[in-house]
Amino acid sequence: MTVHFIGAGPGAPDLLTLRGRDLIAACPVCLYAGSLVPKEILTHCPPGAQIINTAPMSLDDIMATIQTAHDAGHDIARLHSGDLSVWSAMGEQLRRLRALGIPYDVTPGVPSFAASAAALGAELTLPGLAQSVVLTRHAGRASPMPPGETLAAFAATGATLAIHLSIHALADVVAELTPILGEDCPVAVVWRASWPDQQIARATLATIQTAISPQMERTALILVGRALAAEGFDDSRLYAADYDRRYRPLGTDPRFPDPT
Ligand SMILES: C[S@@+](CC[C@H](N)C(=O)[O-])C[C@H]1O[C@@H](n2cnc3c(N)ncnc32)[C@H](O)[C@@H]1O
Repeated sequence: MTVHFIGAGPGAPDLLTLRGRDLIAACPVCLYAGSLVPKEILTHCPPGAQIINTAPMSLDDIMATIQTAHDAGHDIARLHSGDLSVWSAMGEQLRRLRALGIPYDVTPGVPSFAASAAALGAELTLPGLAQSVVLTRHAGRASPMPPGETLAAFAATGATLAIHLSIHALADVVAELTPILGEDCPVAVVWRASWPDQQIARATLATIQTAISPQMERTALILVGRALAAEGFDDSRLYAADYDRRYRPLGTDPRFPDPT
């Protein structure tokens, strides 16, 4: 039997992959991670499925539940919000499953940074301005940052910053970034991206703290960088009329003469 880890997406129930939906429908047991997994996604569970919210459970409790279902011969759908590659607590569960010899697989989901960028209508990597995106966070109560992974260090690279789990520490984020990026650096906060009550605040480092509404707490992403409010960027070379490329050979001696 297999534990299927499935990224449940950022909130909108239709931002679930078809593979994820079909796996949920095929599993008689579903474990989901609390309030961030939309309830509508649970309607894909088969009739009579055992559906368990793991938010109040410890890792030991979760593993015991998985072991019981496995011993009963049941496949398990394990849902976490967004994508599983960031801040999902999947790593520690996979380590335990490897030790127990229980098979698993992983189906990706739409991460909140992508849903937030979509809500903003923003490309986070604009030619000449930013060619990297840093997915990061402010230190949390239970999560100190490893040495070297400071917001200031990331900001110094000029990359677009997607700062998770940190809206409660917005003042600290602003204080750390302003000396590096300047008060006029664009910032956007997207609260509950893709949810029906999604809210967006666009501002600068100088003004973001007064631009957000008091409601915009907890499930919010802070995006910072010059790419967020830019019109003065270069066109990409990909579609440049004079760019000789494999799928659009140009001239009498193209670099890739056969476009197939
Ligand atoms: C525990 S992490 C989960 C991240 C998730 N695995 C992902 O792929 O985005 C929770 C944080 O992700 C961000 N987040 C998750 N869903 C969001 C959404 N719909 N809109 C904005 N931010 C979201 C917030 O910063 C929140 O504090």
